[in-house]
Amino acid sequence: MVDERPIGVFDSGLGGLTVLRALVDLVPHESTLYFGDTGRFPYGPKPADEVLKYALEIADLLADRGVKLFVVACNSATAVALEALQDRYDVPIIGVVEPGIRAAAATTRTGRVGAIGTVGTIASGAYQQAARAAGIELTCAACPGFVEFVEAGDIDSDQMRVLAERLLAPLRAAAIDTLVLGCTHYPLLARTIGDVMGRDVVLVSSADETAFEARRMLGDVTTGRTQPVVHDFITSGDAETFRHLGARFLGPEVEFVEAWQWS
Ligand code: DGL
Repeated sequence: MVDERPIGVFDSGLGGLTVLRALVDLVPHESTLYFGDTGRFPYGPKPADEVLKYALEIADLLADRGVKLFVVACNSATAVALEALQDRYDVPIIGVVEPGIRAAAATTRTGRVGAIGTVGTIASGAYQQAARAAGIELTCAACPGFVEFVEAGDIDSDQMRVLAERLLAPLRAAAIDTLVLGCTHYPLLARTIGDVMGRDVVLVSSADETAFEARRMLGDVTTGRTQPVVHDFITSGDAETFRHLGARFLGPEVEFVEAWQWS
């Protein structure tokens, strides 16, 4: 029998919609419920215990709404909260760090891989740990400022490029051949990052690999639904802004957005 409960997806804001996009494309017969914590965005510069608290609060909310699978679409939240979430709930929970490293391991020819993310993600050591487990050599760099450029709608200005050249210099020096975009916002900067890294470096986003993992976990039951597929959205920020900007990350699926107030 088909389990018609939605897949719960959450992020610190809108960026996780890049993961939701991959998910909706890969499992179009599944309903989804997305929570964007735009009211408390960004997570990247915040202390780990604060991000952990936020992640648990959101997961409690999604669990109350009856999701059958959690996708932690935020790298910063995955990095500090995935294990705690997996301990707390019976439903399966997928993060974005391991799928990203898995995709990189399958891509690299030299075994030298890079990963970039927020300050919190890189400081947590989550990517480094996943790379060790996968047996690949990893060079990491935090990229403070990248998220702010995307949020401002600036993805290819001279200033953005200058910042990218400075922050990505250690990765160029490490002669990597594959770079994991370890933050929800970085796929939108792919052109500038790709230009700076050079054409021999393959950029890997964890969105697709995460969606494949979700499909693997959900199994093959695709027919027999009695209810229509719906994509619902909740934000702790301004619902109208979310709806408007959400289309930039996801597309036309963002229609009604519920406003949520943290007490
Ligand atoms: N969603 C966050 C991540 O993937 C980026 C934005 C933030 O700092 O909250 O790490």
